[in-house]
Amino acid sequence: MSGEFDGLVALVTGGASGIGAAVATTLVARGARVAVLDLDPAAAPEGTLGVRADVTDDASVRAAVDEVVRTLGRLDVVVNNAGIGAQGTVADNPDDEWRRVLDVNVLGAVRVSRAALPHLRRSPSAAIVNTGSIAATVGLPQRALYSASKGAVLALTRAMAADHLADGIRVNCVNPGTADTPWIGRLLAKADDPAAERAALEARQPHGRLVRAQEVADAVAYLASPASGSTTGTTIAVDGGMNDLRTRPRA
Ligand SMILES: NC(=O)c1ccc[n+]([C@@H]2O[C@H](COP(=O)([O-])OP(=O)(O)OC[C@H]3O[C@@H](n4cnc5c(N)ncnc54)[C@H](O)[C@@H]3O)[C@@H](O)[C@H]2O)c1
Repeated sequence: MSGEFDGLVALVTGGASGIGAAVATTLVARGARVAVLDLDPAAAPEGTLGVRADVTDDASVRAAVDEVVRTLGRLDVVVNNAGIGAQGTVADNPDDEWRRVLDVNVLGAVRVSRAALPHLRRSPSAAIVNTGSIAATVGLPQRALYSASKGAVLALTRAMAADHLADGIRVNCVNPGTADTPWIGRLLAKADDPAAERAALEARQPHGRLVRAQEVADAVAYLASPASGSTTGTTIAVDGGMNDLRTRPRA
């Protein structure tokens, strides 16, 4: 598959860690030149251009997108992946936390896509891929705010796909199940019994283990690829069957 993205430039938000880092590395391996927009650009994977950007700050996003295009000459693929979590029921999270999580997870994707649009319109194979979540499509306990944010990402994906079809820009979404990234490591570190919590998360996935960041990255690369020119407005679940299967409990 090497060379699939030859000549193309991709931008990955939140590409300094976890799923985003796996996406950035995968796109580089397949021939793209890749910019990583992150709060922590020093941690961007080798072979990528790390650019500091805060997706909650429109000026920061615009400056970062300009820098990418100035340095790499064009922009063809945007992966809106930067995200933060929240735990609790609707009774638990204060308004400021709602604003903060929606600002990063939803408006972050809006700001980056908006700044990228003029460049994507010039691309012969433009694609936006949003990182959603299983939380967008099933009811998980203690995830009211996070689920609302990812439900919005899913709806935004479809609306943007309709709006920008005529611009030649495909827009799709990947919904991971619980994935083995530093994010989940931080979550487990806070649990009373991290090993038991990890086992519970693994058992929740029908295939009995956490999703690998690389498995999500390969789905993102599929959707971003010029080879997927007829795929838009859709979602790929990378969740070990969590969304669609009703299996018997594992022995
Ligand atoms: N890990 C999971 O189980 C899981 C499951 C489903 C969906 N997701 C989604 O995948 C995406 C990546 O998650 P991850 O597990 O790799 O997390 P992670 O915490 O390992 O990485 C997130 C990255 O986003 C960056 N970031 C956070 N806020 C930012 C901001 N305001 N501006 C720019 N960059 C910012 C961080 O610096 C970090 O590099 C998120 O959108 C998350 O909601 C994760």
